[in-house]
Amino acid sequence: MPATRTEVTMRDDAFTKANNAQQLWHPMAHPGDMQANAPTIIESAENSSITDIDGHTVVDAVGGLWCANLGYSNEKVKQAISDQLAKLPYYSAFGGTTNGPAIEAAHAVTEFFKPEGMVRAFFTSGGSDSVETALRLARQYHRLRGEPTRTKYLSLKKGYHGTHFGGASVNGNNRFRTAYEPLLAGCHHLPSPYTYRNPFQETDPAKLAQNIAAAFEDEVQFQGASTIAAFIMEPIQGAGGVIIPHETFMPLMRDICDRHGILMIADEVITGFGRTGDWSGSRHWGVEPDMMCTAKGITSAYFPVGACLVSAKVAEPFESDQSGEGGVYHGYTYSAHPVGAAAVVACLEETVRLDVKTNSSARGTQLFEGVQALKEKYDVVGDVRGGHGLMTALEIVSDRDSKAPMDPGSVKRLAKATYEAGTMVRVSGHNVMMSPALIITKDEVAQVLSNLETGLQAI
Ligand SMILES: Cc1ncc(COP(=O)(O)O)c(C=O)c1O
Repeated sequence: MPATRTEVTMRDDAFTKANNAQQLWHPMAHPGDMQANAPTIIESAENSSITDIDGHTVVDAVGGLWCANLGYSNEKVKQAISDQLAKLPYYSAFGGTTNGPAIEAAHAVTEFFKPEGMVRAFFTSGGSDSVETALRLARQYHRLRGEPTRTKYLSLKKGYHGTHFGGASVNGNNRFRTAYEPLLAGCHHLPSPYTYRNPFQETDPAKLAQNIAAAFEDEVQFQGASTIAAFIMEPIQGAGGVIIPHETFMPLMRDICDRHGILMIADEVITGFGRTGDWSGSRHWGVEPDMMCTAKGITSAYFPVGACLVSAKVAEPFESDQSGEGGVYHGYTYSAHPVGAAAVVACLEETVRLDVKTNSSARGTQLFEGVQALKEKYDVVGDVRGGHGLMTALEIVSDRDSKAPMDPGSVKRLAKATYEAGTMVRVSGHNVMMSPALIITKDEVAQVLSNLETGLQAI
């Protein structure tokens, strides 16, 4: 007798659970640990929520990975992807061929970031690719302008710029560096605008911004401006723990870059497309960078796409070059992928139509006020950061005075109890981070806060 549908599902579930993390090595995880403590299998999703293999539905306060900006049920984006799959699933954009959706996507994304001064788009398959592209183009830009010695990069400690060798080299967290060293030579790091812990013992964000600006100037004098290609920063550091700089910080960095002929690369992989409550982190701080790295929200994670965007200043020496040296000998098989490009076009339309930045700002404030209240109530909450859109973090400590980080076991207990209560949060070290879909509702944010309180009580 043929198996019934339910029997088939149960057999499939048994196979899935038995093989969980057995053959699959997970990104950012220890393979042995994954085998011993199998990861949660997510089976379906709707709007801002996800459901696991056991049928437990929770609010996804992680937003996939800071990326599911439109939530999981945007039919227009899904339809655009499926229509394009049927019409032209792929064709190369190397050299002599292109495709309509890619042309449209480049037009749409440069229009979207016109206020930031972006005029050209180079499509990639994700954030790390976009960072790599920006770093390479920065060197080539200086070569084209007759300054081939400008090869070094400056960046911020606690910054995250993906895991390609260039990105890891400008990364500011040794977790992503040490095992893979030696990294790229000529990468130097400045302190992070992190008021809770910094080498200046400075808690005033404006003064800390001044201190870092002075360290930047000092580093430029030490290295020599003529050796530095670019400075890369996230407008709000995300993976490093949602570090919100003072409003003067990014403009100060912009000014130093300008005075020394250093290109400013804004890594907007998280902050782009509404997450900060503005369409970009750069716009949020009133800065026009020379290049922007984007991914995540560009397709709201419906398809893996990134884009490196460049300003007219950067584009000019490439486009006017007559020597052949302006050729961009860099790119990916999936650069300007037609299905990805169709996703970009539909996603940008939806992002604007739904005005997700406005909800991001309001719900971000609600979430931040909520975690501030939790900080008042629970001593284990050492610091809370947020209030600029839907990027929020709690730093969990075992002692408020010494700021000693909470042990990993306790933070895991917090996350597990929060999940069981109805919300998925992300744990990174002793930080608990939240970056839900930008369409999250007021009631869902209230649920996140209540579930988080349950988690805090479980420590
Ligand atoms: C600021 C920033 N840059 C780059 C990346 C790398 O992007 P991807 O993981 O898509 O390669 C990330 C990923 O989280 C990021 O947050």
